[in-house]
Amino acid sequence: MPSNLAQLDHDHLWHPFTQQQAWCEEEPLTIERAEGSHLIATDGSRYLDGVSSLWCNIHGHRHPGIDRAVREQLDRVAHSTMLGLSHPGAAELAGRLVELAPPGLSRVFYSDSGSTATEIALKMAFQYQRQRGGQHVRRTSFVHLRDAYHGDTIGSVSVGGIDLFHATYRPLLFRAHAAEPGDAGDLERILALREEETAAVIVEPLVQGAAGMLVHPPGYLRAVRELCDAFGVLLICDEVATGFGRTGTMFACEQEQVAPDFLCLAKGLTGGYMPLAATLATERVYEGFLGAPEEQRTFFHGHTYTGNPLACAAALASLDAFESERTLERLQPKIRLLGELLAEVGTLPAVAEVRSRGFMAGIDLGEHDPALRLGHRVTLEARKRGAIVRPLGDVVVLMPPLSISEDDLRRLVEIAADSIQAACASASAAQLAQAA
Ligand SMILES: Cc1ncc(COP(=O)(O)O)c(C=O)c1O
Repeated sequence: MPSNLAQLDHDHLWHPFTQQQAWCEEEPLTIERAEGSHLIATDGSRYLDGVSSLWCNIHGHRHPGIDRAVREQLDRVAHSTMLGLSHPGAAELAGRLVELAPPGLSRVFYSDSGSTATEIALKMAFQYQRQRGGQHVRRTSFVHLRDAYHGDTIGSVSVGGIDLFHATYRPLLFRAHAAEPGDAGDLERILALREEETAAVIVEPLVQGAAGMLVHPPGYLRAVRELCDAFGVLLICDEVATGFGRTGTMFACEQEQVAPDFLCLAKGLTGGYMPLAATLATERVYEGFLGAPEEQRTFFHGHTYTGNPLACAAALASLDAFESERTLERLQPKIRLLGELLAEVGTLPAVAEVRSRGFMAGIDLGEHDPALRLGHRVTLEARKRGAIVRPLGDVVVLMPPLSISEDDLRRLVEIAADSIQAACASASAAQLAQAA
């Protein structure tokens, strides 16, 4: 019974990135089913999935090919460990990822989330430098970008730069240095100072998603790669958000012909079906871990559900769908349409700036009193109009499934624009009432 579910939710759940006090003052929207680009709640109401269920759905919900692949895998085995054993899906998927990834990334290490994918890249980079020996053992710190977001585990938070999320944990974190996003000169200055202590530079290529869809200038990623080479530092590209077509190409790195030393993948890897992540590394890094067991050069890391067979089956079916449905080719006119629609949204008085790249968009409503919760008001207004959006502060994010139809895309942007106007009107009324 829906009302009972709402009660159970308020009584017992603790939601991520959510102030529970405010959450429990509102009726939760409970999603029970989905179809294509739509989510369906327990009361039967339908909503456009405007954020791809947190940036991960690619081909729509209940995709027949992915559903079938997961069911068929269920008839074989749901889970078997990767520690000491292998399974067909893990091996096949590793081969397919290596074929698709930028050149030189020949090894695939699985885990379960974007946070673990980046955590693993950081640990691998650190251990690789230690095992190189000599002066490289001093390479114990990292360089990241200001406003970076790489996940919520302590390692990934250490290279994060969003104070609201990360400042509390500072006493727990390891050493890292922040470079100005989009400014190659700043990175060069930092590396010139800290070359000998830096294990790796970590970046979200082209777009910093959680920062509010911060788009880097053309050529920046290429410059980051060249600086890493010049200073003998490894490069980690975190494509957890940008990967699997989000910026218009399979991987964002391709757009500047960049091959990193580590590539972190998660979110869209399974088409948005199951928790699966992969950290790809070069053969040079992999070889740095080889040796007799007693030499202890092993990478001592692995999660229970690493490389889960159901998730690998979903990922393989998602890659098949990319091919059979020509997902990237069919995405290009929708990217152009989204650009045109957003240009109109940008002219609204309530909108400070629109930032987008491919199918990642942020509509920035500017600086407002946080107590007004303007972004949250937009979410509630959008819900009334039949769309799910989730803001980053006062930046309204639009990131629909790549498979969304042009009509639904038009409707989504229209709902976003109407909701922004309604939310701003309600926020002004709330401000006036407070002042009176
Ligand atoms: C660039 C990037 N890296 C890592 C993560 C963390 O992924 P997860 O939430 O799966 O741990 C995110 C999540 O939004 C992300 O955008």
